[in-house]
Amino acid sequence: MCNKNSLNLPRRLRRLRRSPAIRSLVAETSVSVSDLIQPIFVKEDLGAPQPIASMPGQFRCSLEDTVTECLKLYQAGIRGVAPFPKIDPVKKTPDGADALCPETIVLRTFRAIKQAVPELLIFADLALDPYTTHGHDGILNEEGSDVLNDETVDALCRMAVASAAAGADFVAPSDMMDGRVRAIRAALDEAGYTGVGILAYSAKFNSAYYGPFRDAVGSAASAGTTLLGKHTYQIDPANARQAVDDALLDVSEGADMLMVKPAGPYLDVIHRLREKTLLPVAAYQVSGEYAQIHAAAQLGWLDYTRTRDESLLAIKRAGADFILTYFAREIALKSDEPSILSVASPAEGI
Ligand code: PBG
Repeated sequence: MCNKNSLNLPRRLRRLRRSPAIRSLVAETSVSVSDLIQPIFVKEDLGAPQPIASMPGQFRCSLEDTVTECLKLYQAGIRGVAPFPKIDPVKKTPDGADALCPETIVLRTFRAIKQAVPELLIFADLALDPYTTHGHDGILNEEGSDVLNDETVDALCRMAVASAAAGADFVAPSDMMDGRVRAIRAALDEAGYTGVGILAYSAKFNSAYYGPFRDAVGSAASAGTTLLGKHTYQIDPANARQAVDDALLDVSEGADMLMVKPAGPYLDVIHRLREKTLLPVAAYQVSGEYAQIHAAAQLGWLDYTRTRDESLLAIKRAGADFILTYFAREIALKSDEPSILSVASPAEGI
């Protein structure tokens, strides 16, 4: 290196970018497999895994295949899964009553996972949308024009206790009803599940990025639309301050961890929450974020691996402690691929 200092610069920031060794020394953020939670889809029938068209690489699996998959994920270093059910449309009702049946596919899945892979954390999503004919997250009023808050919270409390009894480590209310965290905490404590935590979907936005997920669980099809409006309970994408308000309320009601969802389009909200609370902050990189990277890569317009890894790194850099992402599985299973993530090897003891 004998470039002349002809500009007479006192500082040259490129010194810190000169070699891979220097760049890795000064890297401020990394993503490791143990930061990633895999959402999974469970179906009621015993047939072969069904691919989800709008989510390449994701499948709806039978209970048995799900358990096999969970074992594989755990051995690859993944520490948690978030199971979602695909319910047979004939079982759906306007009030989503089947969610409270003690033998739902999702509760049976929790029990089977806990038996086969007890160390793998289960995050139980609490909301009625997989079970309702209209696809909303709660019980509708008589006119069918809005979701009833307190009646829905009552159902969520019962789902929370049933999930805890079936082995869930955390319950994750994704419904955005008011007062649910406090009510769920009280219900869990009363039933003796003081050790089961609450991951509050505190800042869940009314987002178009949930489209592919609604294909996966059939909640849009049951509502006859892909543009199901959840404006009266999910947060307006215009509002970051309100998202912080919602999250701090969840903290005061007893949340153990907070979540921002979607992740990539809401990095500012992740950052604000990281500054405002000492609780762990999770981010959910949702189905539409996953689908758009796949779609652009399929067209040859983006480099798949680099875009995927950059999207995750950005979420960590914004301040997320861990990420729910459909990329978790492939990153864990192919950790020998060159990647900017400096993927850590599976934790000890496996
Ligand atoms: C519903 C729920 C949704 C997601 C997780 N839980 C969709 C919705 O609110 O309609 C979306 C996840 C994703 O898009 O990956 N309670």
